[in-house]
Amino acid sequence: MIIANKTIDLRSDTVTQPSAAMREYMLAAQTGDDVYGEDPTINLLEQRVAKLFAKESALLCTSGTQSNLIALLSHCQRGEEYIVGEEYHTYRYEAGGAAVLGGIVPQTVPVQADGSLSVDVLASKIKVDDPHFPITRLIALENTHCGKIVSPEFISATRILCDKHNLQLHLDGARLFNAQVASNTPLVEMVAPFDSVSVCFSKGLGTPIGSVLVGSEALIKRARRWRKMLGGGMRQAGIIAASLDYALDNNIERLAADHENAHLLASKLQALNSSTFSVEPVQTNMVYLHFESADIAKKVSNILQQEGIKAPSSKKMRLVTHLDIQTEDVERIVQGFRRALV
Ligand SMILES: Cc1ncc(COP(=O)(O)O)c(C=O)c1O
Repeated sequence: MIIANKTIDLRSDTVTQPSAAMREYMLAAQTGDDVYGEDPTINLLEQRVAKLFAKESALLCTSGTQSNLIALLSHCQRGEEYIVGEEYHTYRYEAGGAAVLGGIVPQTVPVQADGSLSVDVLASKIKVDDPHFPITRLIALENTHCGKIVSPEFISATRILCDKHNLQLHLDGARLFNAQVASNTPLVEMVAPFDSVSVCFSKGLGTPIGSVLVGSEALIKRARRWRKMLGGGMRQAGIIAASLDYALDNNIERLAADHENAHLLASKLQALNSSTFSVEPVQTNMVYLHFESADIAKKVSNILQQEGIKAPSSKKMRLVTHLDIQTEDVERIVQGFRRALV
């Protein structure tokens, strides 16, 4: 008999709590006024991340949304466009910030089953220089997308396209470390094709807030100005930077455990042999279930909730593993499903 004693939250890896050790590390951080460039912990963190990504410079931002928005604003002027997957976060889930605040036009293209975009379709959307059209300036990719690792071949082909048309290339790498750990590819190799990369620390890496944008010295100088304009100039945020430092030291390799738990969960749910849902193959820390009806998904979600397990109620149900979910929790989740499906 499994005793339900803690809440298991599968809705996202953003729900992770900063650990006691991380909090202690944050408490000891040296701080200063970062708007004056005087917070030593932030300065060191930005240098550390820039070096890790082999880019010239880095900027600590409050969130992935802010970091992506600042990247778009720093690359594009009013009346210019970025080409983006229609399911990518930088188009669909960031409240249209680039259009609202920057007058930047999004040109969407369909996302393929593997999370990539068609290079031919991308090419077909690049505008010629004509006063009728917005000026194409940037392509924005995402890795991982819905837990899928986007192929390096697609990224290289997109880089070649960008070079041919003098475009910039941005990566929303909110969960890039998941892709890096799962594919066992050097980080520098993964980000070399990009002019800018945004990476999140408040998801699987477990910090309370924080994303970092990396790129050239010139880009990050513009980004710093945009961050200030957006009200994101932080003062003694070395306390926050310390949590990112802690995550870099302690929480990257362990992402492999989240991936193992996602694989285990997917295989155990598959083994239930339910005719009411199918399970997508897992690559990193996300398990996607496709229910035959929204009503069944809702019923399952409600019953799980009663057992202290939080899961979305949508027909396409995303279950995310993270550092607050242990291997022994997987069996409890599966038991919950078993009871919900009778
Ligand atoms: C792929 C992707 N990019 C960006 C973000 C934005 O991050 P934040 O919630 O920190 O704004 C998210 C958030 O879940 C995301 O999944």
